[in-house]
Amino acid sequence: MQTILALGLAALAAAAPAKRDTPHYPATSLSKGFLLIANVTDPTKDLSPSVNGWVVQTAHIGPPFNAAVLQSPGASAPGRIFYENGTDERVRYGQSTVITDGATPPSPYGIFTQSPTEFDTLYPTEHDVFINGGPGTPASITRFPNPYAILQNNLGVGTFVACNNTIPYYGYKFITINYAYATFEGPDGGYQYNANIPEGCAPIALLPQCTTLNELPPDAYASHEFAVTERCYDDVAGIDWSQYGP
Ligand SMILES: *[C@@H]1O[C@H](CO)[C@@H](O)[C@H](O)[C@H]1NC(C)=O
Ligand SMILES: *[C@@H]1O[C@H](CO)[C@@H](O)[C@H](O)[C@H]1NC(C)=O
Ligand SMILES: *[C@@H]1O[C@H](CO)[C@@H](O)[C@H](O)[C@H]1NC(C)=O
Repeated sequence: MQTILALGLAALAAAAPAKRDTPHYPATSLSKGFLLIANVTDPTKDLSPSVNGWVVQTAHIGPPFNAAVLQSPGASAPGRIFYENGTDERVRYGQSTVITDGATPPSPYGIFTQSPTEFDTLYPTEHDVFINGGPGTPASITRFPNPYAILQNNLGVGTFVACNNTIPYYGYKFITINYAYATFEGPDGGYQYNANIPEGCAPIALLPQCTTLNELPPDAYASHEFAVTERCYDDVAGIDWSQYGP
């Protein structure tokens, strides 16, 4: 009885709204390995069914190329394990890349985001994100003073988006990950983040969720020698964003 009452009071205390005297942000841990989880940043633009909490996977489109796609997490879509790769100096200058190990023996497959002048062949206003054999394009997990840990494309300011696009190699639709570069309106206008989000696509932040980095066999082509320890979240889908922020 005593215990039940105590528990009840504790639950009440936990349910009381937190004071917002100072900004606070969801807690992070540190890890070399992480999954990438989609957080739909504008729920009014979400797809149906919602892609919030979906994991980054690869869709093979001919060796050594893959489209980066989102899938509902589960036994058939556990999520690719990624790591940020580079020396401290390369990280500091925004030249690290984000890699997952693929094929046999395990080889590095980097996240490759098309530049502002490269476009999808079927959707000529959209920039693709691939996971291809090789290092990938400059990318990193954001660090202090950014209060959030987010995958950042270091080719240019903008946002990742989730689109219901046909992949020609298959001839049917996937939830593909694409990138919308922001438009710079000059010092007064600043960046227009939403200017280039394609119609029907949902803006997403790709958030690292801590996981153990995969072991490599002795014959691997991939190496984890320069895998960087970065911030990550223990359970992205479990974060209640209404509790956080300035
Ligand atoms: C995640 O999405 C919510 C809206 O659903 C938003 O309030 C929050 O700022 C987003 N978090 C990040 C780190 O983008
Ligand atoms: C994607 O498009 C297909 C066909 O147009 C549709 O059946 C499916 O429900 C769509 N999926 C989402 C998540 O919008
Ligand atoms: C990983 O980073 C190291 C150090 O910067 C670099 O020498 C190596 O080529 C990178 N690996 C890949 C696959 O890019």
